[in-house]
Amino acid sequence: MAGKLKIRVDQDKCQGHARCKSLAPELFDLDEFGNAHEVGDGSVPEHLEDKAWLAQSNCPEIAIDVTEE
Ligand code: F3S
Repeated sequence: MAGKLKIRVDQDKCQGHARCKSLAPELFDLDEFGNAHEVGDGSVPEHLEDKAWLAQSNCPEIAIDVTEE
């Protein structure tokens, strides 16, 4: 059985393109500088897993890690 997904934004790589936030607003928040952070502890509810992968593949800086716990 597949594990639960977890997302993490690499702050060194994120340049504030905000595609993650527009594609998956449930999973990402932007700070006052426009850089993204994962919501909460980054755990992805099952019904949002597709959005997590979508956001990851659309980040131009490859700043989003998606891992299985
Ligand atoms: Fe940053 Fe990528 Fe989102 S650059 S704001 S993590 S689309």
